[in-house]
Amino acid sequence: MTTTVIVVGAVFFILAPSVAWMAVLPMPFILWGSFGFQRKLAPRYADVRENASLINSRLANNITGMATIKSFTAEDYESERVGIESDHYRRSNRRAIALSAAFVPLIRMVILIGFTATLFFGGIEAATGQLAVGTYSVLVFITQRLLWPLTNLGQTLDQYQRAMASTQRVMNLLDTPIAIHPGTTPLPATTVQGDIRIDNTSFAYTNQHPVIEHLSLTIPAGQTIAIVGSTGSGKSTLVKLLLRFYELQQGRITLDGNDIRDLNLRDLRRCIGWVSQDVFLFHGTVAENIAYGSFGASIDEIIHAAKLAEAHEFITRLPHGYDTIVGERGQKLSGGQRQVWRSPVPCSKTHPS
Ligand SMILES: Nc1ncnc2c1ncn2[C@@H]1O[C@H](COP(=O)(O)OP(=O)(O)O)[C@@H](O)[C@H]1O
Ligand SMILES: [Mg+2]
Repeated sequence: MTTTVIVVGAVFFILAPSVAWMAVLPMPFILWGSFGFQRKLAPRYADVRENASLINSRLANNITGMATIKSFTAEDYESERVGIESDHYRRSNRRAIALSAAFVPLIRMVILIGFTATLFFGGIEAATGQLAVGTYSVLVFITQRLLWPLTNLGQTLDQYQRAMASTQRVMNLLDTPIAIHPGTTPLPATTVQGDIRIDNTSFAYTNQHPVIEHLSLTIPAGQTIAIVGSTGSGKSTLVKLLLRFYELQQGRITLDGNDIRDLNLRDLRRCIGWVSQDVFLFHGTVAENIAYGSFGASIDEIIHAAKLAEAHEFITRLPHGYDTIVGERGQKLSGGQRQVWRSPVPCSKTHPS
């Protein structure tokens, strides 16, 4: 576009300097209008993306929670909520489109003024003999070459803003600072003892009252302990802190005398077997899910682990035994079946736990 404007503009000034300025006059307005307009449009497109993500997550939620919705006969309630969010999406889209649809015609009107002025005043000069008729007809053609491409500028910028609204969301995610910085001390799975000391620790999830306050606890290697407390008292949080899913605000936790912040994060997590309350299974076979994390495990090791978890029996009763496909998130299994074999065999060969 820049090349066109420079080349055609130069030709214009050489051929007919007296009318050339009329063709060039709309350009600053078009440029100024385009960029100003894009600045207005950007937040509207951002709003459209935001609303699209809300309705997407609502739909995804409803589909996964289908059984709950049906059992509570909440279909009408849910479809109303989908309706409301659809409506927000539609409205934000309309706001963006109203602006973007107004833009191109406005640009064209400005262009038309320049075009008409060139035709009219060039025509008068040609009629009075100041401008050769041949030159005039060249002018008529190249004014179009000069000005019409500028309408594309609007469309290009419009598409750019649309794409940027999406790109920005991805970029924001990528720019999220990493809160957990891995340490460097290696922790070989074969030598770990499991001596845990929790030393005067305090922790709160962001902007909330503390979940753990000045807690100290020593768990000698090889001990089995249970932590009991009312729901929401912070039992799971303690385990998550041990895995370094969150960073302590005060105090420290050591494993075999090493501050867990200094340990290599992968080594640390490899040495902890975590059976979460909400078990997540991957689409694949039973054997693949048992071996998850210990990807090189042989079928004998997998069966051994299943026997330790008392899962071997029901697995052999499944239609294809260890090769049964569990379905997405393990939906083809019962809740208890899902949980039982996710008891991992963390530091596998040496410490089957
Ligand atoms: N990811 C999270 N973000 C914010 N607050 C959380 C998060 N997970 C748990 N909490 C809050 O921390 C408290 C302790 O939770 P948790 O450790 O899961 O309890 P429980 O003892 O039942 O395992 C609860 O009040 C819970 O609401
Ligand atoms: Mg819990």
